[in-house]
Amino acid sequence: MVIYNLCKICIYFRFFHHVYIKINLHDISKILNLIVINLELIFIYLAGNKNAQCRSHRKAIKKIIFLLLSYLNFYRYKISVPNKKENIENLQKKLGEVLGLERAAQKAVTELISMKLLKSDSKTDAEEIQGEASTHEEKIQEVASIFSDDKDVKLDISKVEESAKETEEKATKIMKTYLGEEPDTSEALEFLCLAEGGEVAHYEVLQAICGNFDNKKALSTVKSILKEEQKHLTQCIDMAKAAVS
Ligand SMILES: [Fe+2]
Repeated sequence: MVIYNLCKICIYFRFFHHVYIKINLHDISKILNLIVINLELIFIYLAGNKNAQCRSHRKAIKKIIFLLLSYLNFYRYKISVPNKKENIENLQKKLGEVLGLERAAQKAVTELISMKLLKSDSKTDAEEIQGEASTHEEKIQEVASIFSDDKDVKLDISKVEESAKETEEKATKIMKTYLGEEPDTSEALEFLCLAEGGEVAHYEVLQAICGNFDNKKALSTVKSILKEEQKHLTQCIDMAKAAVS
């Protein structure tokens, strides 16, 4: 009875995102037996001798490999990821956070310009970043709707929006605290560095979360936004350095 139960135990090897290979312990014991019985043949095969006897051994070993694969019960399994619910919740939260950060970034640029803290080149660069933030916002909304239409995910858009609102409010408060009563251009640019750094970190995490889902389009969109965010961060650091040199 105990042996029977052991044979029922199986090991899942992750192959792709949702694709697992199942091998049960019973198969593993058969494979080990085959290897031990044919150890001599295996050594001859690995040594690579070319005489006629070894060639016939090599044919034999190919048959053994074939047998091994058939014993492996080699089939792909599409099973649900153990923490799928948790993954979906993480995805909703992180999509909302990046959405909130993009909205806050657009507002921040408008506010810094109205406070006359961004001038000439910095103003032009910041406006360019603002335009791209608007495009990122649209792309993230598209990603959210892709996951919302996906029958396996059924992302809740209202939860994404809830998280976005919360993040936008937090980011606006952080900006006010950081700038204080009488901010100067340097502080304004350093705040943009802070905001872009936050975006890069959030997109890195979002990219990792998207890796848990089998959706190439969503993953490639997030990857492309991450690249642009890394560029934004470099641009802001350069602006902050230029302001003091
Ligand atoms: Fe950005």
